Amino acid sequence: MDTINILAIPGSLRQASLNRQLVRALQSVAPSDVQISVFYLNDIPIYNQDVELADGFPAAVQEMRDKIEAADGLIFATPEYNGAMSGALKNAIDWASRGGIMAQKPVAPISGSPGALGGTKAQESLRAVLNHLGMHVLSRPAVAIPQMNEKLADDTITDEMTLKFVTDWLSTFRNWIVQLNK
Ligand SMILES: Cc1cc2nc3c(=O)[nH]c(=O)nc-3n(C[C@H](O)[C@H](O)[C@H](O)COP(=O)(O)O)c2cc1C
Repeated sequence: MDTINILAIPGSLRQASLNRQLVRALQSVAPSDVQISVFYLNDIPIYNQDVELADGFPAAVQEMRDKIEAADGLIFATPEYNGAMSGALKNAIDWASRGGIMAQKPVAPISGSPGALGGTKAQESLRAVLNHLGMHVLSRPAVAIPQMNEKLADDTITDEMTLKFVTDWLSTFRNWIVQLNK
């Protein structure tokens, strides 16, 4: 493989989202042969099978699906809403799951929260869905970032230990993608 293209999708729609900042921070700490692009979910409508059957995929959904299909691997960064992944992310996965395009795709879930547990429950719910889809889900290391509001500034990870965890995680994911493509 030459350049490894990873698509990172943050599961928050808000402008100042910590999870959005996190995926942008990943872009600058990725291994040299890894390119991370970010897809935001703001234009993805709520899944409705009537729409899919009558009109096909809405434009933003088609764009997301094309980018997912073209990517060598995916990163989903989920916030925790009431002990689970965000509805926006689950909704996007529901659209993306149609036709089985997610199966066999390498994926690395990550979560973060201002709380003490780093969105671990959100990540568990996300992992359950990704496993259900038959994706190659990176099992270890699992990264959940607690007090994430204190560890990011200007799309940069400012906490040294978090930076090390995330850098190692990205490197492991990169190596695994290469392995899976052999
Ligand atoms: C509806 C709602 C439910 C939430 N539930 C949880 C929760 O269960 N656990 C948690 O750690 N944080 C929870 N939070 C706080 C979020 O972790 C926090 O708002 C976080 O910044 C959201 O991610 P973002 O910054 O990427 O938008 C909740 C926030 C909202 C709006």
